[in-house]
Amino acid sequence: MPLLEVNDLAVRFDTADGSIHAVNGVSYSLEAGETLGVVGESGSGKSVHVLSMLGLIPKPPGKIVRGTARFNGRDLLAMSEGELRDIRGNEIGMIFQDPMTSLNPVLSVRTQITEALICHRKMGRAAAKQRAIELLDLVGIPDPHKRVNQYPHEFSGGMRQRVMIAIGIACEPKLLIADEPTTALDVTVQAQVLDLMRDLKKKLGMAMIWITHDMGVVAGIADNIQVMYGGRIMERGPTRAVFHDTRSAYTYGLLRSLPDHDAPVVVDAQGRRPRLSQIPGQPPDMFKPQAGDPFAPRNPYATERCLVEAPPLQQAPGGAPGHMVAAWYDLRSVREKAA
Ligand SMILES: Nc1ncnc2c1ncn2[C@@H]1O[C@H](COP(=O)(O)OP(=O)(O)OP(=O)(O)O)[C@@H](O)[C@H]1O
Ligand SMILES: [Mg+2]
Repeated sequence: MPLLEVNDLAVRFDTADGSIHAVNGVSYSLEAGETLGVVGESGSGKSVHVLSMLGLIPKPPGKIVRGTARFNGRDLLAMSEGELRDIRGNEIGMIFQDPMTSLNPVLSVRTQITEALICHRKMGRAAAKQRAIELLDLVGIPDPHKRVNQYPHEFSGGMRQRVMIAIGIACEPKLLIADEPTTALDVTVQAQVLDLMRDLKKKLGMAMIWITHDMGVVAGIADNIQVMYGGRIMERGPTRAVFHDTRSAYTYGLLRSLPDHDAPVVVDAQGRRPRLSQIPGQPPDMFKPQAGDPFAPRNPYATERCLVEAPPLQQAPGGAPGHMVAAWYDLRSVREKAA
């Protein structure tokens, strides 16, 4: 049995301006210990699809239209708020983007790490503090005995992100969901945090869903990559296959917008790598329910059928096992012909 099995998940936001079709039939499964990288441009439904499984979208305006999400065999979407609270931060750990807003500025790091241990693991205060020190040590924070009593503002950005990771893994979750956990960090610190996550994954054996804009970031950490666009999965498969035997025109566009690996890394004034998205055309209008392939209007290889009928996610012909693509066109042959 897979650790997580999502089937036909659809999520909508009913706003005063109309309905936003944020997630439009997402299905996939995640094995224990697997690291899945979820990539796609802004607004493609990456965050909403995980937040809705965890019961963290505001309802209203949010609404789960259909689908199931079985975690260890139990449907998260059918659970009460109390049942979900037992699972969040316990069996499913979470790390979000901005540690300055996710950490509480008026509580010490110790209080914030021990909270989950006391609540979910019924640990006593002393034992929880000891565990918090071990966790800070595990995520590479020097001098953890002293640091544990400090407040978020006493930590640098990279160190705060490490604290967030310590909180995320405190209860040794079976699944860790990380939503853009390194985006706010400069390139060097980002690389350190990635190394740390690779290391922790090995030590703890947990599965991970790693959400990011940046194909380059997931390349080094994910077993499988899932590319989302317009609230759908366009391509999914082993990392190597998605990078080197690309079958979706959208993935191909994302990869072409990656900088040359040998070129120097370009950073902005704050030391951050700028977001790359140079696929010509506009992202889809999420207010309109899509009839066809959402990427068709921007896809030079689209056929008539792409515009009117959404392609199902299917095994890529002649591709690696588990390499799936949603496309009516055959990217390999149309590119060969075009060359
Ligand atoms: N609370 C909300 N109310 C209304 N619409 C929302 C809400 N949250 C998300 N959306 C819409 O749902 C769609 C999917 O958003 P989502 O946050 O999942 O995108 P994303 O892929 O995570 O993008 P990013 O890379 O910018 O984080 C977007 O059109 C967004 O505007
Ligand atoms: Mg997001």
